[in-house]
Amino acid sequence: MRDSSHIPENPWDNHLEMAVRAARNAGEIQIEAFDKTRTIDYKGETNLVTEVDRACEAAIFDLLSTAFPSHDFLLEETPTFRSGSPHLWVVDPLDGTTNYTHRYPHFCCSIALLVEGRTVLGVVFDPVRDELFTALRSSGAFLNERPIRTSEEDRLIRSLVATGFPDDIGRARDKNLRKFARLLHRVRSVRRSGSAALDLCYVAAGRLDGYWILKLAPWDTAAGVLMVEEAGGSVTGLNGGPTQLYTKALVASNGRIQESLLTLLSGHTNSV
Ligand code: IPD
Ligand code: CA
Ligand code: CA
Repeated sequence: MRDSSHIPENPWDNHLEMAVRAARNAGEIQIEAFDKTRTIDYKGETNLVTEVDRACEAAIFDLLSTAFPSHDFLLEETPTFRSGSPHLWVVDPLDGTTNYTHRYPHFCCSIALLVEGRTVLGVVFDPVRDELFTALRSSGAFLNERPIRTSEEDRLIRSLVATGFPDDIGRARDKNLRKFARLLHRVRSVRRSGSAALDLCYVAAGRLDGYWILKLAPWDTAAGVLMVEEAGGSVTGLNGGPTQLYTKALVASNGRIQESLLTLLSGHTNSV
């Protein structure tokens, strides 16, 4: 038998376990309330928040802040005090609120832990399909504990890609419509799912070959970006440079179509 005492434990295993527990708690709340009437508040004309978003956020925050009292939090629905801790939890309690509000069953919660600005773990849980996506820096990405890899497709015309549109599209400077139209005829098809975190996980799992978006917040992307990178894919800004927590526009793919996707999105060529 192998002596497990020599296998180094990942220093973030315990944090991952807690994040998974918190994500599953949020998933239970989402499923429990799915068919019930809900109160909708408006952060903007088409930017919604429900009591379920808030209840999920409270459940995640309670669990993680009890387990890690010295850590900082960046939560979508609650402004929180930053103490300057090197540990920062970034939480989207319900990604896909518009879907959820319409009982369109495609949503999740997304939790990431950054240490000194670097994402070390990500958890995205889709309670409808009971799909748990996890990633630990340098240790890979997993779907229900099985390793996942990005796809092998290297031709855009055979690629399935996805995008999203900002909640405040009415006021957005670049509405993404030109890019959407340009790509529509150059790829196999384009999806628009309504959950950025799941879109990134689907790239990681090879279900999508690529994804782009022009305006996202840290809680939409923190876990999903690590998921894609740990599954062997690429994530860059629209200019091909590296992304950071606050990068709003990003392009993610299996890596093989990244260059052609970036070129096509830029609109600088007709010959990709
Ligand atoms: C939204 C979703 C959507 C994206 C929006 C996000 P929310 O998050 O991720 O796919 O296109 O820009 O705001 O509001 O459902 O958490
Ligand atoms: Ca979101
Ligand atoms: Ca949200």
